[in-house]
Amino acid sequence: MTYVVTENCIRCKYTDCVEVCPVDCFYVGETMLVINPDECIDCGVCEPECPAEAIKADTEPGLEGWRALNAKYAALWPNITARAEPPEDAAAWDGRPDKLATAFGTADPAAA
Ligand code: SF4
Ligand code: F3S
Repeated sequence: MTYVVTENCIRCKYTDCVEVCPVDCFYVGETMLVINPDECIDCGVCEPECPAEAIKADTEPGLEGWRALNAKYAALWPNITARAEPPEDAAAWDGRPDKLATAFGTADPAAA
């Protein structure tokens, strides 16, 4: 298993997660972070740190597409190991249902 970053990270990017990861396996894109599933050691400490509740264990049902998105972009985006300032409008985006389509042009994470 692994933990994965899911839709509510998009445009929130609080980055509290990167501060606690013991193996520095977060990667950062323009609108969200992802976890490298091959590097994550499943410790689970990042999950409760995310204010947007965007980090999930991939053992939860329905997250196959998000695992694929995390694996794809972890190979393309740079590593991030220190907290960064979130976007000014992060709170306004928290909980919006259409964030994947807005940021990636598709509502299917496996196709993003
Ligand atoms: Fe890092 Fe642990 Fe979170 Fe995996 S579960 S991303 S190893 S903090
Ligand atoms: Fe995203 Fe939550 Fe980390 S919003 S950057 S997964 S703390």
